[in-house]
Amino acid sequence: MNIPQELLRHRVLHRLKISQRITLFLIYGVELTPNAQLLSNAEILRLANLFVSSGVNKIRLTGGEPTVRKDIEDICLGLSKLKGLETLTMTTNGITLARKLPRLKECGLSSVNISLDTLVPAKFEFMTRRKGHEKVMNSINAAVDLGYHPVKVNCVVMRGFNDDEICDFVDLTREKPINVRFIEFMPFDGNVWNVKKLVPYSEMMDTVIKHFPSIKRLQDHPTDTAKNFAIDGHQGRVSFITSMTEHFCAGCNRLRILADGNFKVCLFGPSEVSLRDPLRDGAEDDELREIISAAVKRKKASHAGMFDLAKTANRPMIHIGG
Ligand SMILES: C[S@@+](CC[C@H](N)C(=O)[O-])C[C@H]1O[C@@H](n2cnc3c(N)ncnc32)[C@H](O)[C@@H]1O
Repeated sequence: MNIPQELLRHRVLHRLKISQRITLFLIYGVELTPNAQLLSNAEILRLANLFVSSGVNKIRLTGGEPTVRKDIEDICLGLSKLKGLETLTMTTNGITLARKLPRLKECGLSSVNISLDTLVPAKFEFMTRRKGHEKVMNSINAAVDLGYHPVKVNCVVMRGFNDDEICDFVDLTREKPINVRFIEFMPFDGNVWNVKKLVPYSEMMDTVIKHFPSIKRLQDHPTDTAKNFAIDGHQGRVSFITSMTEHFCAGCNRLRILADGNFKVCLFGPSEVSLRDPLRDGAEDDELREIISAAVKRKKASHAGMFDLAKTANRPMIHIGG
């Protein structure tokens, strides 16, 4: 459902002015995209500066895989110096993170999300078609040791693949400040989504309550994408990202810039507008702001629902980032 344009404009502008939690996603590392099409370090900083000077205070680097970019440290250093930016974070597969994290921290990376869908090395290898489970676990531990608090671990739950591991993931939160975030499986191009593979939040919660009856809901911020919970005696937290069965579009203040400079106002919306092309054609900051503002005003009140999304052409998640 679309909400009236006037109301939407009011809602978005209001949010741009007052929200301290607008998030800009910069996305890198999609293999096969020729380098000339990708935003350069300087272009990323110019665009990021435009957003931060307009009120964005959190930037997430995702992908693709941000750590494959050779200039990732320089990018972090440049972004972390932007006046007004409070959080610089990254979503990574954790394969090379343990080695790179000390330097990334020095360059201003203030928090980290590590993707891990299984605690079973053989399943990891089957799913990702490479070894590396131990490396990801080492990265999680390295992040904890470096004082990241919490270290977020993203786990996409899929029926028949890892739904039997939910309680093992919750156990990770017992001794360490790890925030395990269970994500409902979402449809994107190429991931052969099927409603039968979706494990709804309600079902995940039933499983967790049976084994961890002291689980309690925490107060969320209106723009949180996750429902957050604490368990007695656990240092870490458990969260659920319920994009499919209980969407949180009304509080969503995320904007995304893809590696090729396309701007996207909704993870699930196929519409994109290039910021790279006008930037390379010499557009002034004000012209870029107008393009951004027009796109933001087209942000819909909510996504189309999982069954329609499954039929809609959108980029694969690996191109959009989380
Ligand atoms: C596209 S990934 C970003 C790639 C990143 N370099 C990584 O592997 O962490 C962003 C997050 O979205 C999650 N994700 C990917 N596909 C998904 C899907 N179909 N449904 C739900 N979450 C998904 C991933 O697990 C990851 O935590």
